[in-house]
This record gives sequence, C-alpha cells and structure tokens, in this order.
Amino acid sequence: MAKMEVKTSLLDNMIGVGDMVLLEPLNEETFINNLKKRFDHNEIYTYIGSVVISVNPYRSLPIYSPEKVEDYRNRNFYELSPHIFALSDEAYRSLRDQDKDQCILITGESGAGKTEASKLVMSYVAAVCGKGAEVNQVKEQLLQSNPVLEAFGNAKTVRNDNSSRFGKYMDIEFDFKGDPLGGVISNYLLEKSRVVKQPRGERNFHVFYQLLSGASEELLNKLTLERDFSRYNYLSLDSAKVNGVDDAANFRTVRNAMQIVGFMDHEAESVLEVVAAVLKLGNIEFKPESRVNGLDESKIKDKNELKEICELTGIDQSVLERAFSFRTVEAKQEKVSTTLNVAQAYYARDALAKNLYSRLFSWLVNRINESIKAQTKVRKKVMGVLDIYGFEIFEDNSFEQFIINYCNEKLQQIFIELTLKEEQEEYVREGIEWTHIDYFNNAIICDLIENNTNGILAMLDEECLRPGTVTDETFLEKLNQVCATHQHFESRMSKSSRFLNDTSLPHSCFRIQHYAGKVLYQVEGFVDKNNDLLYRDLSQAMWKAGHTLIKSLFPEGNPAKINLKRPPTAGSQFKASVATLMKNLQTKNPNYIRCIKPNDKKAAHIFSEALVCHQIRYLGLLENVRVRRAGYAFRQAYEPCLERYKMLCKQTWPHWKGPARAGVEVLFNELEIPVEEYSFGRSKIFIRNPRTLFKLEDLRKQRLEDLATLIQKIYRGWKCRTHFLLMRKSQIVIAAWYRRYAQQKRYQQIKSSTLVIQSYIRGWKARKILRELKHRKRCEEAATTIAAYWHGTQARRELKRLKEEARRKHAVAVIWAYWLGLKVRREYRKFFRANAGKKIYEFTLQRIVQKYFLEMKNKMPSLSPIDKNWPPRPYLFLDSTHKELKRIFHLWRCKKYRDQFTDQQKLIYEEKLEASELFKDKKALYPSSVGQPFQGAYLEINKNPKYKKLKDAIEEKIIIAEVVNKINRANGKSTSRIFLLTNNNLLLADQKSGQIKSEVPLVDVTKVSMSSQNDGFFAVHLKEGSEAASKGDFLFSSDHLIEMATKLYRTTLSQTKQKLNIEISDEFLVQFRQDKVCVKFIQGNQKNGSVPTCKRKNNRLLEVAVP
Ligand SMILES: Nc1ncnc2c1ncn2[C@@H]1O[C@H](COP(=O)(O)OP(=O)(O)O)[C@@H](O)[C@H]1O
Ligand SMILES: [Mg+2]
Repeated sequence: MAKMEVKTSLLDNMIGVGDMVLLEPLNEETFINNLKKRFDHNEIYTYIGSVVISVNPYRSLPIYSPEKVEDYRNRNFYELSPHIFALSDEAYRSLRDQDKDQCILITGESGAGKTEASKLVMSYVAAVCGKGAEVNQVKEQLLQSNPVLEAFGNAKTVRNDNSSRFGKYMDIEFDFKGDPLGGVISNYLLEKSRVVKQPRGERNFHVFYQLLSGASEELLNKLTLERDFSRYNYLSLDSAKVNGVDDAANFRTVRNAMQIVGFMDHEAESVLEVVAAVLKLGNIEFKPESRVNGLDESKIKDKNELKEICELTGIDQSVLERAFSFRTVEAKQEKVSTTLNVAQAYYARDALAKNLYSRLFSWLVNRINESIKAQTKVRKKVMGVLDIYGFEIFEDNSFEQFIINYCNEKLQQIFIELTLKEEQEEYVREGIEWTHIDYFNNAIICDLIENNTNGILAMLDEECLRPGTVTDETFLEKLNQVCATHQHFESRMSKSSRFLNDTSLPHSCFRIQHYAGKVLYQVEGFVDKNNDLLYRDLSQAMWKAGHTLIKSLFPEGNPAKINLKRPPTAGSQFKASVATLMKNLQTKNPNYIRCIKPNDKKAAHIFSEALVCHQIRYLGLLENVRVRRAGYAFRQAYEPCLERYKMLCKQTWPHWKGPARAGVEVLFNELEIPVEEYSFGRSKIFIRNPRTLFKLEDLRKQRLEDLATLIQKIYRGWKCRTHFLLMRKSQIVIAAWYRRYAQQKRYQQIKSSTLVIQSYIRGWKARKILRELKHRKRCEEAATTIAAYWHGTQARRELKRLKEEARRKHAVAVIWAYWLGLKVRREYRKFFRANAGKKIYEFTLQRIVQKYFLEMKNKMPSLSPIDKNWPPRPYLFLDSTHKELKRIFHLWRCKKYRDQFTDQQKLIYEEKLEASELFKDKKALYPSSVGQPFQGAYLEINKNPKYKKLKDAIEEKIIIAEVVNKINRANGKSTSRIFLLTNNNLLLADQKSGQIKSEVPLVDVTKVSMSSQNDGFFAVHLKEGSEAASKGDFLFSSDHLIEMATKLYRTTLSQTKQKLNIEISDEFLVQFRQDKVCVKFIQGNQKNGSVPTCKRKNNRLLEVAVP
C-alpha cells in the first residue's frame, strides 16, 4: 500500500488567521487583535499574502532548529504555519528552479528584529543550499562577514543592545545549481555622529569597547591605549558595560571572523590603529588664545595626545597641529587662510573623527566584498537581503530621519509597484480580467523629496551651494516657497499656508505627510549635515600620513588631484545610492519581511497595542492587505484546492477523474457559491472574498467530522462484523467438537451395552455348554462309579471267595496239623512222657520272657528322673524282675541326667543333696527350700562400697554373706548382723558400718541346733573354753536357714574332716555366759501373724512361737 501523504495547509489549526488577507472584517483593531492573539501563542509570524510579518519575541523560541529547517524545506508556502523559513525556502527555490533573482526586504524599526531576520534567512539558505568544501568556505565567509560589520557598525541604543547603525544590502550569488559563489555588500548611511557623541544610555560603536576590553597588553601598548574607558572622551561612560555582552570575547570573535573573511594580519592591525587614532582624537582639547587682531585663536591644550596620534598614524605633528588651527579656502587660484576659534577647532576635530571612522567602515565593506566576491565569471543568480532601518518618527526628527523615511518611501514605492505588477502579471498569466485596483500611490511623496528641480533634497543642495549666508532658516524659507502647495507638505512659514493656525506645527519645522503618517522635521542641522564638510587642510593632512590605510581613505587630500568642485552632498549621495538600490531591486522578485517590535522594554511576553498600532500604521500594513485584497483575496492552484475541498461534493469525492480545474468547477457549482465570488484562472482558482474561503473551510471542517463519523461507523461495522464472523466460526468449531464428543460418548455407551449383552449371551452360552459338559462328565463319573462299585463288588466277592478259600485251606491245615499232631502224639506219646513237659515249659517260658522284653522296649516311660510312670507288670511271675528293671532304668536315666551337668551344677546339686540328707523329713522348713537355688553370697560385699573395709579385712573366699537376725538372749529382741562364712571362719559384722563384731574359727563350732518346725531360728554352739565361747552361743534367725546350715556343715567337714553335729529338736539348750537357757518352740496361735516371735519367759526359758 502506498504511503498516504498527508497534505497540510496553513489553514489547519490556525491561531487567529495565519494570513491577514483572510481577516474579516479588516480594520486596525482586528488586525492588532489577530497579531496579539498569535503572539500570545508564540506564533510570531503572520502572512499578508506572501509578506511575512514578524513580531520580535525577545526570547529564543524553539522554532529555528535543524528539524524545523527540514520541515520547511521544499514545502509550499501555504502548506505550513507562517514562518520566515517558508519565505526563505520559497525565495531560494524560485531562485534555483525558476531562475528568478530574489530580494528579501526586511524593514521595521530599530529593535524589531530585522538583523536577526536577515541572519535567519542567511542561515536557512546556507543550511539548504549545496554542500562541499569549497561551498562551505564561501558560506562561512558570507556568514562571518556579519560579526565584523556588527562590531564596527552596531552599537547599543536605548531600543536595541545590538542596533545596526547602518543600512545593509547584501547580494548572495549562486550558480545554476543553487550553490553559493560569493556575495556583495552595500552599506548605507552609517550613523557617524555616534562616533563623537552618544545619546544618554547609549554607547559608541561596539569596536571601541571590544578593543579596550579584549586586546592584549602588548597590543594596547603598541596602540598607546589604556584599558580604561574613562580615559576617552568619545566613550560614553554611563552605559559602557552592557548586560549579557562580553566585549572581550566578542573582540576575539571579531578577530577570528576577520581572519576567516580573509583579512591579512597587517590589515587587521591597520584597522585597529585607525580605531585607536579616532579614540585618541577625542582626547585632543583646545584652549582659546587671544591674538593681536582681537580674534580668538584655538591652541591645543596638551600636545602629548597629538604626538601619540601622529606617531601612530605617521602624520607630521606640525601638519596636523596646523590643520586644527587654520582653515584654507581656495577659490580661483587664491588661497585664503583663516584661523579657527575653539568651537571651530572642536568641530574640525569631530569632523575628522567622524570621517575617519565612516571611511574606515566603507573601506571595511569594500575589503570584505573583495574577499567574498564570486571567483568565477559564470552567470550568477542573486538573492539580495536588505536589512535597512524602517520608518522613524521621533519627537525630534532631523536630517537622518528625513533621509531614512525617504528611503522607506522609495521602498514602499517599489513594494506597490512590484506587488501590483506581480498581481497584474498573475492575472494576465491566469487569463483573468484585470480590474482596476484602487490604492494609494506614494509616488507623489517621493516626487516631493527627490524631484530634481523642486524636490526637498534639490532645494537643500541648492541652499548648501548658494554663496552668501546659508542657514537652516533660509532653507526652510525656500521650502515654503517652492513646496507650499504640495498636498503632502505642511509648514507655517508661508503667509498663505493652510496651517497658519496649526499650533502643533512649530515655526522651525516642516511636516511631511508620509504614506505611513505625518512626520515633523526640525530643520536645524539640515544644512550642516547635508554639507558633511571636512576642512581641506585636514583631508590633506590625512593624505600625507605615513599610514597607508589612512592615506587611502582620503584621496581628495592629494594636492595633485585637487578638485575645486565640492564633493557631493550627503543628501545627493544618498539619493543616488537609493536610486541604484531601487534599480537593483526592481530587477528582482521581492520578498517582504515586516518586523514589528511588541514593546519598548526589550521584554518577552509584552504586547503593547499602542506601540504595535503605531508601527502597523507607518509600515502601511493595512494598505498592504488592501492592495493584496484589491482583486481577489485568495488564490490557489486547482490541484491543492480540489484536494482540500473534494470531500464537499459527491462527484469529486473520494476521487475525481479528470482535470483538476473541471473538478473545482463542479465543486463550486455544487456548493452554489455565487459566480461573482470567484474566477477561474489557467492554473488557479481566484476567490474574491475571504468569507467565501472561510465558508469553504467551515464546510470542510463539518464534512471532515461527518467523514470521521462515517469512517468510524464503517470501521465499527467492520469491527463488529469481523468479531461476529470470528464468533460464528468459533461457534461452529465448538459445535463440531461438541457433537463429536457427544457421538463419541453415545457410541461408547452403545459399545459398552453391547459388550454387556454380548458377555451375558456368551456367559449364558458358555454356561450352557458347561452344563452339558458337566452333565456328560457326571454321566461318565456315574458310569465309572458304577463300574467301580461293580468291580469292587466283583473284587470283594473274589476276596471273600479267596478268604473263604484261605480259611478253608487254613482250617484244612490246622485240622491237618491237629490231625498230624494227634497222629504224632498218638504215635510218639510213649516217647514223650519222660522230658517233653519240661522242654515245653522252658520253651514257653522263654517265649514269654522274650515277648515281655520286646513289649517293654516299646512301653518305656520318659527319661525324666521324676517321671513316676512305669508300665504294669504282665505276668505275676515277673514281679521282681519288673521292679528291678524299673530301678535299673531309673538309675540309668538319673545317670544320664547327671551326665549332662556342669561341675558347678554338680556342686549345687551336691549341696542340695546334702541338704536333703540332713533335713528331709526332719525339719518342716525343708520342702520350701528345695525350690530355692543356693546363692551363698546374698550380700554382694565386693560391689557395695559401704563394705569395702570389711571386704579388705577378709582374705579368704566368702561362702556365705547374708544378713541374719541375731537374737538377744536376754530379751528375745533381734538385731541385724552380717553373717559371713569363709573356709575357716565364721564372722559377724555390723550391718550398717560393716565392722566385724566377732570372729569364730570353724574348729570352735561344735553344734548347730534348730527346731523341727517351719521357722528360721538356729543356734550355733561353740566349743567350751574357746576364745569365742566367752560370750556364749549365738542364736540367729534367717530366711535361708537350710542353705546356711548345709554350707556350714559342708565347710566344716571339708576343713576339719569332722561331721558337724546338727541337732533338730523343739527344745534345746543354749550357753548364755555362765548359764544355760532353754529355747522352746511352741505351736503359736495365728494372732501374731505369720512371723515367728521370740520372747524371754524367765531366766531359763526363751519361748519361740511358730505360727
Ligand atoms: N526571531 C527572534 N527570536 C528571538 N529574539 C529575537 C528575534 N528577533 C530579534 N530578537 C531580539 O531582538 C533584538 C533586536 O533585534 P535586531 O535584529 O538587532 O533588531 P533590528 O536589527 O531590527 O534593530 C536581538 O538582539 C534579539 O535579542
Ligand atoms: Mg539591525
């Protein structure tokens, strides 16, 4: 798809109206309001047709960036919002493409932005024209000529910190490709009076301040200058410093620019020397000196300054000194010298300074021209940029304003001429009938000023050249005579004046009704300024200077070329140069930039309506609009017109097939625009009234909105439709999937039901078969069973038969045996009687015994020694054998049992056996001890740290260690004691401390007594007379009596080889010191519980109650 090109127009998003031609209604008020509205919205440019009005914003706006340059490049003038670039582009393109020389005329009052505008135009052209090293150098030189000229020609004024004090016209030359080749600069009327005097709050030309601030010490010394503004009379001191301006830096910029433009070093130095000389001239002062003839003569006060000037410029000091004192007037071979008084001397000094400086400025312009001159001789296209002072109306207007306003009249003249001419040409070109345009032609004012016979300038020249006393007043009188009847001239001097009663018009003034307003001129100074006299003595002195530059500035000082004719007056010079300029401009296609100053404060955002109104008036901008609107206010080529409005008619929308003109015709017919409102040219449509255009614009806007709605509608419809289609498509897809899913599910269901049915049928079939098979099998089994029964019956019958047969055979055999036996017995009875009985008896016995043993073998009881079972005896006669056999078997199994014991077990069982031998059936306590294993060392003395001392005291093996109750024989109470039995001794120790209480060697133990009952009391009897027996026998009770007694018995036996006497009796005697006490055991009642109690009954009796 081709990229859509968006055609824009000036008419898009306009603030106010971009083109004043379209202003409705048109009057001063609407004009100013429109400008103000645009200014407030940062739109500083507004068109009047092809003229650009520029309102100085006094601040930098972001509208000159390289992007903006690109925006405006190669675009049609009315395509974008008004801009100085649009005008520059238009001018440059018609120069390059249509081979039309261009001029850009920038006017406006001081500070309105003319110089800035001219720079913007130049920089735009530089940006869009060709590139390349050579071209760039030319561009650079052209651009760098500005800082040099500004340094010498600009000054700070109350209106503008960088005010151009000269008019400038610059021709930029291009080759056929549009590449710059070079340029020519013309300067007009430098304000030279500024050199010697500046109004309050203003400065001299920038260069003086730049030199003093920026020059090196060395340079200053060379120029015999001091870095101190106050040293120089010509420098205004109250505003020597300008805010935001760095003079020193600018000096370097200027030196650098001079270098780029092509100044040689020595040339640049010469220029500065002249500047220094001018500065120093101001310091020459004069004093009056009376002469003999009674006249005053001036003398130089301090010759030092003069000397330095002369050294600097190579002038003979005496020559210059004389030139300041005398004036030589030559007339017809006669030379008359008159002395100068102080005032005249000052006049001469200032005249010299002014001339020196203005000639230096002209020389600079020429020098720059030399550098930037095009190098080739090929035909050139030219773009002229005119930055010239605009109309000036001050309170006191003098010769300068007169000249300037004259210049503006001329410019207005060619503006009218060219605009009308162009308009007319366009009408002819477009084949439109030319209707007369009524406008004010200022030719009449120009004539008032420049007419060669009775013009004001001619009158002035005449006065200046007239012999006799010439004053400003005589000049005014003359004017009154000659011009009194002129419509545009006003004065009160002449008797017949129409203005005799006009008090606003002083007597020393005349007033001219310029095209842009009335201006009152003070006649004072006109003659002098027009004369612009420099005494010949001074020019000759200058010519004699050794300084080549100064010499060349004063060619008229050369005596060889002495010319008695007066030099042309300032007025006639200016008239001539203006005439040349006009001629030059007339050959070119004009482009106008009208600069307007919005306020007097150099401030941003302030729009003073009164001030602007004033400027609009004298710039004749309303006139401008009227001229432009005289015929048709608006015109546009058919293509863009059709393109812009084609949506207003069905036939042309959206595409018109056919010529654009026909399309526009159809369009306008359709819209019923009155025929007198427009005309068809060859390539353009001409619209008479802006209202028609605005109507079109309104319709277009309306229609665009409708179209937007339509597009929106269609788009929305399309969007909904596509959305719907998408939904439908999705719905179909979803439905398809869902159906598939449902069918699948149904199929699965059918399939599974089928399977179920199938399986039932198959099962049923299978079961049927199974049933059949089972039936068959049962039949077969039945047959088999029947066969088996049958066979069984057969077999049993056979077996029965065989058994019967066997029985019979046996019976036969028995019967036969009996029979045989009977026969044998009968036969052998006679032999048997003696020993047969015995033999049978023995045989039978043998058989029975054999049988008995074989049976016994199978009936043997278990191998447990305690098993009491024994098979009953089968025969009585075997009774003793049977018992013996039982005994042998028991012994055998006991042995077998014993054999499996270890040595330790054997010992235990030996002990148990001993106990059984000693106590079984004797002591009632015994049975309860059988099940208890004998442990001996119940008290583990080794392990208990409490008994460490006790253990250490005993070296032998401990057999018994047990706690027993020792019975106190005196009262029957008991105390706990540790009872220890070792191999040789019996020891008693305290249970708590482990301390040994008594030790009895075993040999001293004679007997142990105890009851036959179920109690643990026992007495240990000691050998009478032994050491241990001194306290008497011991009476104890213990839980392990059986074990202790057994162990004591065994130990005594093994140690002493004597059997310890163990007495079991319910009443025994115990030795108690000297006495013997009887211990008697009685069967006690149950009331004391199950524990035996011991009680001392009397001296001789201790009674123990056993439950
Ligand atoms: N287009 C502009 N944008 C920003 N500032 C401007 C513009 N034009 C003029 N100025 C400001 O106004 C001052 C005066 O402009 P200048 O061109 O020197 O006036 P003129 O030449 O008309 O006397 C400039 O120094 C600058 O500060
Ligand atoms: Mg300027």
